[in-house]
Amino acid sequence: MCPPEHFGVLYEINPWMHREVAVDLGRARDQWGGLVATLVEAGAEVELLEPQPGLPDLVFTANAGTVNNGRYVASRFRHPNRQPEVDHDVAWFTDHSFEVVELPEGIGHEGAGDALPFRGVFLSGYRSRSDAGAHGPLSALLGAPVRPIELVDERLYHLDLTFCPLDDRRALVAPDAWDSYGRKVVEALVPEPLVLTDDEMLAFCANSVVVGGTVVMPACPPRLGRQLEAWGFDVVVIDVDEFLKAGGGCRCLTLALDVAVPSAIPTGGAPPPSSGTGAAR
Ligand code: ARG
Repeated sequence: MCPPEHFGVLYEINPWMHREVAVDLGRARDQWGGLVATLVEAGAEVELLEPQPGLPDLVFTANAGTVNNGRYVASRFRHPNRQPEVDHDVAWFTDHSFEVVELPEGIGHEGAGDALPFRGVFLSGYRSRSDAGAHGPLSALLGAPVRPIELVDERLYHLDLTFCPLDDRRALVAPDAWDSYGRKVVEALVPEPLVLTDDEMLAFCANSVVVGGTVVMPACPPRLGRQLEAWGFDVVVIDVDEFLKAGGGCRCLTLALDVAVPSAIPTGGAPPPSSGTGAAR
């Protein structure tokens, strides 16, 4: 996570951003601090990236890159306003002993904001920000399968505004934000989806951080809370409205570093021995 010392709405690169809306930095600091405290309370360890003057969106570390098994795929941002963030992100990952890799020239992808692991694959959003052609190279670099999902609502321009893995069976899903192929992919992948209404998806309910059994959300209407609690989750709502002014919620302010999707890409040689479980008879 990155403290909001230099946060603000200084340009407009998504439909939520309006330069004339002032950010209250004191409130932003308090909200961000509340999020850190809640995540730590839930059992997370938080690492910090140093804020940089002139880079107001560096707080949204979800977009720093995509992590899998100690490897870090650097982001390549669509908008020039965010491109200078990458050097700072790469420096952090280099200093912290991650294996740093880059997408091929000309392929854009905005990191964990557009790539979320679930049941052995990454779902990867594309259109307003990440490129449609990113999933192949991303899969090769992550060593894991990547399934592309087109994001059709420009208000929900990153995948993490429309999808939130809860555990290995359940996820918050906003199918109205996806093309029909994407809906089918998710339908086949998620055994127990919790489908968000339009109001819930536009309140960024899917932009939540899950730490163990705690779901930290920017908003949670009663019907959603009841279902999450029935599934055994503790729900904590954190007011992050200063960050919503820039089009980001709780999850955008974080980047999971402990992602470990096992490699499913054949490396050549002998086929793996049959595990004897779940095989068709
Ligand atoms: N202002 C930032 C942008 O438009 C917000 C990023 C939100 N990040 C996310 N992972 N959804 O790029």
